[in-house]
Amino acid sequence: MKTDTGVTQQRDPQGRLRHLLTLEGLSHEELTHLLDLAQFYVRTPGDLPARDGALLGRTVANLFFEPSTRTRVSFELAAKRLGADVVNLDLHSSSRVKGETVLDTIYTLQAMMVDVFVMRDSEPGLPAFVASHVQPHVSVLNAGEANVSHPTQGLLDVLTIRQRKGEVRDLCVAIVGDISHSRVARSTGTALQTLGVGELRFVSPAHLAPEPHEFPGAKRYAALAEGIRGADVIMALRIQKERMDASQVPDVDAFLKEWGITEKSIRDAKPDAIVLHPGPMNRGIEITSAIADGPHSAVQQQVRNGVAVRMAVLATIVRNVQMRNVEAGRRAG
Ligand code: NCD
Repeated sequence: MKTDTGVTQQRDPQGRLRHLLTLEGLSHEELTHLLDLAQFYVRTPGDLPARDGALLGRTVANLFFEPSTRTRVSFELAAKRLGADVVNLDLHSSSRVKGETVLDTIYTLQAMMVDVFVMRDSEPGLPAFVASHVQPHVSVLNAGEANVSHPTQGLLDVLTIRQRKGEVRDLCVAIVGDISHSRVARSTGTALQTLGVGELRFVSPAHLAPEPHEFPGAKRYAALAEGIRGADVIMALRIQKERMDASQVPDVDAFLKEWGITEKSIRDAKPDAIVLHPGPMNRGIEITSAIADGPHSAVQQQVRNGVAVRMAVLATIVRNVQMRNVEAGRRAG
């Protein structure tokens, strides 16, 4: 299967976003527009969730070849709150195993008038591959692709940072832990750099660092205390054992001591630093419960923002496809 990061492929001939495969190539203005629209959909706890009819009559299919709780449920709620019909297929154990190719599954659902495919897979390249085979009015949204990218997570992280800390250009953000296997670190890092983050740091043991060519301009640290010194935002990451050889899996107790975000280690960051984690959290490994549930934590706010961000992405993509249809109709007379 061809691996394509999707930078150009995700746009229609007029340059509008038709799919969301990666945050690479999105401009400052495009990111800001998506974040502003997401902010419009955010409600305070206790209020009714935002709803509108942007996807009325549309059908969204969630195709998850890898487990997911937060991302899958938030895409489902986002689509429903915009008025769409939603189907959920947890496919890791069914179609591929039965030998049905992914494209057969896509074509079957497309014949049932699915307009948007939301996809998660452990192999790189599937969202772009599917995007290159669907009909022109159909969109693909990447909900997590191997260790490559997770665009909506990147957006919700940046939205959370913006809400808690203001403009990212004034901030120092430290991403800590298993970065090499993290699609979240890549998408969040990309969004932060496009938005002109003050300082971006990657803080990890050498074997879990990003590739040397990734993120020019970011700083790398091989010790936690230095890496989070003076940071406004700390993002802890799960040790992603499912993407590691047995030899790479660190000793859990040693990891907490050296790399864990704890009440002790966080003293090196700014006193009002916030802590993000994309979930699922391994409490007692990369983060302690005292931090995850304490005053520094923005974890629940991230989850809440996840629905709003996915509403913004769905509404934007579907509107772009509609505009293209209108223009095509006008040309046809
Ligand atoms: C992340 C993912 O699946 O990439 N979780 C998520 O989407 N909220 C991070 C992880 O699995 O560690």
